[in-house]
Amino acid sequence: MLILGIESSCDETGAAIVKDGRYLLSNVVATQAEIHNRYGGVVPEVASRQQLATIIPVIETALDQAACGWEEIDAIAATYGPGLAGSLLVGLTVGKAIALAHNLPFLGVNHLEAHIYANWLRNQTTIISPQEVDDADWEYQEGDPTFPLICLVISGAHSELVLVRGHGQYELLGRTRDDAAGEAFDKVARILGLSYPGGPAIQQAAQRAEEELQQQGKSPVLARGAYRLPRAWLRGTHDFSFSGLKTAMLHLAEGATEDEYQRDAHFAASTSGNQVSQYTRLGMQAAQRGGADVALLAASFQEAVVDVLAVKTRLAAQQYHVKQVLLAGGVAANISLRTRLGQELRPLNIRLSYPPVEFCTDNAAMIASAAFFHLLRGEQHGFDLDVEPGLSLPFTEK
Ligand code: KG4
Ligand code: ZN
Repeated sequence: MLILGIESSCDETGAAIVKDGRYLLSNVVATQAEIHNRYGGVVPEVASRQQLATIIPVIETALDQAACGWEEIDAIAATYGPGLAGSLLVGLTVGKAIALAHNLPFLGVNHLEAHIYANWLRNQTTIISPQEVDDADWEYQEGDPTFPLICLVISGAHSELVLVRGHGQYELLGRTRDDAAGEAFDKVARILGLSYPGGPAIQQAAQRAEEELQQQGKSPVLARGAYRLPRAWLRGTHDFSFSGLKTAMLHLAEGATEDEYQRDAHFAASTSGNQVSQYTRLGMQAAQRGGADVALLAASFQEAVVDVLAVKTRLAAQQYHVKQVLLAGGVAANISLRTRLGQELRPLNIRLSYPPVEFCTDNAAMIASAAFFHLLRGEQHGFDLDVEPGLSLPFTEK
């Protein structure tokens, strides 16, 4: 089954053609990161206008690259939430219009569920021919993740630990109580005067700090402990919290010494609301103090986030006796997290999987993949489906 997937939930416009939920024929993503970098974050009005300008060329390119005509497409899928209303509306409306025009089944896809299904995607080189899949078991093919499993969904707006017992069966184990992991990366990058999106910028700066130490004949690992930063363990729960860490970073970037910051009674108070102008000013000050400082701060911050995510995910995997853990969402692209979580799980014989970097961040291949497993169950949506900006994963009770 060939599905055209469409993704437009935020600042990436994507179209992809995927066979049987796994095999990629094409995957086109147009990013607006450069435009939003100017503002240090996504500006919703700008994002939706860009979506409108790029969606049709992106879909046409996906069809071209797959060497595919409309007559070969079996279904259309588009993200309907969560995300920015204006951006979502563009992809969803185009998706429904195409399905209507070509008389094809239509399915609205939950963006968070799609991030999980990015783990079902194979590289282009492994496309199999239609004859080979005729007798295949659609629900499970070799190389698929195996249930039950735990998935850490970490994106720009969500951080959730989810127990997945089977296709479409999600139990919420824990979630962030304040900022999402990706949001923390983005806000701290702004504090440090680094570019948007913050995750890759912080990862790069941290790498630079480690390389500099290595050049000085010191252990690169020292960079990760250069600043002592707080970790919110929230013991006895599978929840996360990153706002205290963000406040500590803000304080350090303001120029307080480590000693001062540890003595500061206000340290625990979390920053609230959007402090864009203040962040930008402080970030510039921090950046002006020299690259080494910023790089060491970035390395210490990344280590604090990775520490909590990796240990808490390992604890959940042990408690629920799963044999596989998945990473999903933009932050799953983080190399430190992948390495550290692998180290936590290997001695326990728990397999860790994550999508290639281009499938971790927003893309339409994952939308087509998630749609496939819904269509298998006979599900599809009517053309009255509307966007749901606040949509969450369809959790079942424990
Ligand atoms: O899943 P995604 O592309 O969009 C949402 O659905 O939100 O995630 C975007 C988030 C951003 O916060 C970005 O900073 C973060 O993923 N991210 C990373 C990395 N690459 C992207 N965070 C840490 N390390 C990375 N390498
Ligand atoms: Zn996403």
